[in-house]
Amino acid sequence: VGLRAYDPGYTNTTAVISRISYIDGDKGILRYRGYPIEELAEKAHMLETAYLVLFGDLPTQSQLATFQEAVMRHSGLPPAVEAAVAALPPDSHPMGVLLTGLCALSTVHPEQNPAIAGQNIYNSREVQDKQIVRLLGKVPTLAALAYHKCTGRKAAPPNQRLGYTENFLYMLDGDNSATSYRPNPKLVRALDIMFILHAEHEMNCSTAAVRHLASSGVDVFTAVAGAVGALYGPLHGGANEAVLRMLARIGKLENIPAFIAGVKAKKEKLFGFGHRVYRNFDPRAKIIKEVAEEVFSSIAGRDPLIEIAKALQDAALSDEYFVSRKLYPNVDFYSGLVYRAMGFPPQFFTVLFAVPR
Ligand code: CMC
Repeated sequence: VGLRAYDPGYTNTTAVISRISYIDGDKGILRYRGYPIEELAEKAHMLETAYLVLFGDLPTQSQLATFQEAVMRHSGLPPAVEAAVAALPPDSHPMGVLLTGLCALSTVHPEQNPAIAGQNIYNSREVQDKQIVRLLGKVPTLAALAYHKCTGRKAAPPNQRLGYTENFLYMLDGDNSATSYRPNPKLVRALDIMFILHAEHEMNCSTAAVRHLASSGVDVFTAVAGAVGALYGPLHGGANEAVLRMLARIGKLENIPAFIAGVKAKKEKLFGFGHRVYRNFDPRAKIIKEVAEEVFSSIAGRDPLIEIAKALQDAALSDEYFVSRKLYPNVDFYSGLVYRAMGFPPQFFTVLFAVPR
């Protein structure tokens, strides 16, 4: 009985019934609130998707305008948070910076923690709604600070007149950006689609972590910091960075057979392959491949790692080891190549997963 009840990866233990996302891992289906991910990636943008995930339906024009105004109004960071980030070493990993910033935010917005506020916040929709717009508003700004930790430049302050993803890219362009500067609309749309694809994915490792922390009644920033910690790991969100490093290590097409042999001998992991739920193509990976073509055509030159990625994918998909274990490319296999083509350094890739999630 003891052994039968033992479920180390929680693969057979139901902890919650979700009305937010629906996944059929065998058929490769992902829906947010009933909407297929393909439809959202084509027709919606990130803030509409966030509204859908959070409140259950797509917003009307006026609901969206109010929501966007509130989120953008909360995009500034308190000086104490900026000071906490500034105190970290310049070569800090951006995920560590994001974690630190979220922990610092918990110290400046403690009113949600019932132990501190002396009230039951579970009954306060007002406090919860405020924390939602604070999180959505401040995380991209924090991510921009994390980005500029390694560039040594200063992030541009948020421009509240821009869209969510457009403002994010604007802040990353740093102190060189004039107020009239606008990021390339093709790249804004590509990143926005990437954000939509990463926004929600039912009970994964970081979502389980955030729920676990929140169940103690701790404030939302501390709970989300815990989730960011879980996402940092290379088997979860950190896989996009690991894929890029793996492709660079393979380096040449002729090294692929030896690499695959190493994976089969369990000496290596093929990052960007396999998924806890999908035993088929990850539907997000298919969309990312299309986004990738669009981004690659917008930039000069061709990345040699793209050819290695394609050949590696073909080699794995025709190999008995991967076929028999139903290991297919996941969301992270091509996302790193898209981010690299957009000019992001590998250590920033997982932050680009954390922001929309
Ligand atoms: N490379 C080589 N072998 C693999 C891989 C892989 N990427 N994934 C699974 N396997 C093998 C594994 O060794 C095991 O083999 P055996 O039956 O001989 O022991 C079999 O396939 C089943 O693996 P598992 O670890 O039981 O599968 P899981 O469902 O528990 O793990 C996973 C899911 C995502 C942790 C795993 O597939 C993996 O480590 N993938 C690489 C990391 C990665 O790309 N992660 C991103 C996941 S998608 C985005 C996200 O969640 O953040």
